Amino acid sequence: MRRTVDLRSDTVTQPTEEMRRAMAAAEVGDDGREGDPTVRRLEEQSAERLGTEAAMLVPSGTMGNLVSLLTHCERGDEVIMEAEAHTFTSEFGGLAALGGLIPRQVPGVRGALRPEDVEAAIRQPLTARPVSRLVCLENTHNHAGGTVIRREQVAAVVAVAHRRGLRVHIDGARIFNAAVALGTPARTLVTGVDSVTFCLSKALSAPVGSVVCGSRDFIARAREFRRMLGGTMRQSGIIAAAGIVALDTMVERLAEDHRRARRAAERLVELPGLRIDLDTVQTNIVNVDVSGLGTTAPEFLARAQSEGVQALPRNMRVVRLVTHRHIGDADVDYVVEAVKRIVA
Ligand SMILES: Cc1ncc(COP(=O)(O)O)c(C=O)c1O
Repeated sequence: MRRTVDLRSDTVTQPTEEMRRAMAAAEVGDDGREGDPTVRRLEEQSAERLGTEAAMLVPSGTMGNLVSLLTHCERGDEVIMEAEAHTFTSEFGGLAALGGLIPRQVPGVRGALRPEDVEAAIRQPLTARPVSRLVCLENTHNHAGGTVIRREQVAAVVAVAHRRGLRVHIDGARIFNAAVALGTPARTLVTGVDSVTFCLSKALSAPVGSVVCGSRDFIARAREFRRMLGGTMRQSGIIAAAGIVALDTMVERLAEDHRRARRAAERLVELPGLRIDLDTVQTNIVNVDVSGLGTTAPEFLARAQSEGVQALPRNMRVVRLVTHRHIGDADVDYVVEAVKRIVA
């Protein structure tokens, strides 16, 4: 039977009934004045989960990353990041346009920066050179296919950065996917880093919101940049209430999304003309290279759309499939059968 299967992103997830009830009942205040009790609760819970002193709710992951970069850096500073980091490729160059920061792209290995490459990219402090101020990691790494950065990889980069006087920020939009995939608490993946952003609005299914975590001093300063960017909200306990439910109820189930992504990948890779690096299929994202079919990713996706399967192109050769809470086993089966018809 014909279905519609939306594999475009885990951001399409709808809030659960429990979230909607929590939002309706949330105790709220003015978070731009004396504070909002439900936001405070979410922030405390987030800091506890990530093992930091403090945390701050922001409307989006993009704003969380930008606020963090602005808080760590001065205009003209250089920020070292993986070549295909979301902050570089997909946040409209906000770090440069709004922060006056220079991105320094360093290619990683399946999304992970190698400490020796970070070290080589750090500039010696000489006159007339930009100052290398910050290293950004992304976990999981979206472009690399939802790959996980392990704690020892994080620790190795932190060690180099700190020894050379740089700070470290993690774009942990999907840090809980990484944590679940590795079977470790999220806090172990951010040990020693100076800040981390994570998203409530992706696979955790909350409608809105991300959280920035860091030291008390860092978060106090970050609150000033959040206000500058227009990210200070008022009765935002409405949003935070859903975020609390997301943290309480949506983390463990991410394993199901990972299992289904793996199942889809293992079956699709068997089909002629499709290439998938199964080693990168570690969480809920599958990069499928369709160039072997003699077609482009947009052409492939137009065919898929006519079969009821929605996904996004990564580039002209690669299609990205993302599993999430609304994708069940039968949807995976349906996608595999639809793709079989396309490649035939
Ligand atoms: C790795 C990564 N970082 C940051 C973001 C930005 O999050 P938002 O869409 O909430 O601005 C995304 C969104 O897809 C992402 O995948």
